[in-house]
Amino acid sequence: MEKKGVILSGMRPTGRLQLGNLMGALDNWVKLQEEYQCFFSVVDWHALTTDYEDPERIRSNVQEMVIDWLSAGLDPEKCVIFKQSQVKEHAELHLLLSMLTPLSWLERCPTYKDQLIQLKEKNLATYGFLGYPLLQAADILIYKSNAVPVGEDQAPHIELTREIARRFNFLYREVFPEPKTLLNEVKLLPGIDGRKMSKSYGNTIFMSSSPEEIKEKVKLMITDPQRIRKSDPGDPDVCTVYAFHKIFNPEETKGIEEVCRKGEIGCVQCKKALAEKKIEHLRPIYEKRQELLKRPEYIREILDEGRAKAREKAVQTMEEVREAMML
Ligand code: TRP
Ligand code: SF4
Repeated sequence: MEKKGVILSGMRPTGRLQLGNLMGALDNWVKLQEEYQCFFSVVDWHALTTDYEDPERIRSNVQEMVIDWLSAGLDPEKCVIFKQSQVKEHAELHLLLSMLTPLSWLERCPTYKDQLIQLKEKNLATYGFLGYPLLQAADILIYKSNAVPVGEDQAPHIELTREIARRFNFLYREVFPEPKTLLNEVKLLPGIDGRKMSKSYGNTIFMSSSPEEIKEKVKLMITDPQRIRKSDPGDPDVCTVYAFHKIFNPEETKGIEEVCRKGEIGCVQCKKALAEKKIEHLRPIYEKRQELLKRPEYIREILDEGRAKAREKAVQTMEEVREAMML
């Protein structure tokens, strides 16, 4: 099949992925690998920009992340899966782009300002951290990507990438396409306590949870707090369990809303129905993960092959870049 163009996206290796990562980003990637020539990178250098003081988990997190990606359905026959630090050309492009990037473009980046405040406990007054979005631009441009699937928070980085591409093309010669931003479709997935799902609240669910873990988490979910007895009418709109029914059990959602409002279903039963649906949905991911965990050498092979395929293209682009910059 004729591919629609080149896509690159990446994730920082920060540990096992959450359900939100599956429903937001990964499901989207799995679809895109059919239509585009896709490069998906575990960006371990990006992880170092904030975790340089304690890097010991980064390597095992890379392994975990690739396992999660494969479990969710990324197929190394269809897309290129690689580790950023294994393709050194990204670093060279980052360096060369740094020559033409005005400091003010990096300093005004909203994510830079936010993160400095949010991660106060870390010393992020570093050169590497300021350059985070430029390294991301290098990741994207080195494959001459046409589009980048990301969450909304990343949109300013893709905008910056376009600005850098324009500046390079204007100063030297037309080398880089300007990549489009493909926003991930967001499904509103609350944490089990009804607040935003976030690791720092401890209210998350791993996308590769076992059936038992899913049952436990669903049991802990907050329902309509006004409801004491089964016959009390409930309000699904304030209930976390209901929010999850909408996503995992769309066919029965309407029916559940009705019986809940009339007080004709108990929360225990309602949770049981949800747990069954979620287990059914996530079981293939869980099983694939169990299988992959036993084969660390297979993961290494995938990354080695990914490196070779990624480098083929990156090396080519770098030749053009050096030529354009008279090196
Ligand atoms: N900054 C991205 C994030 O935190 C990760 C990332 C690095 C990335 N390089 C990229 C995303 C290139 C898309 C394209 O999510
Ligand atoms: Fe929530 Fe279901 Fe209980 Fe209604 S019956 S409050 S939707 S858990």
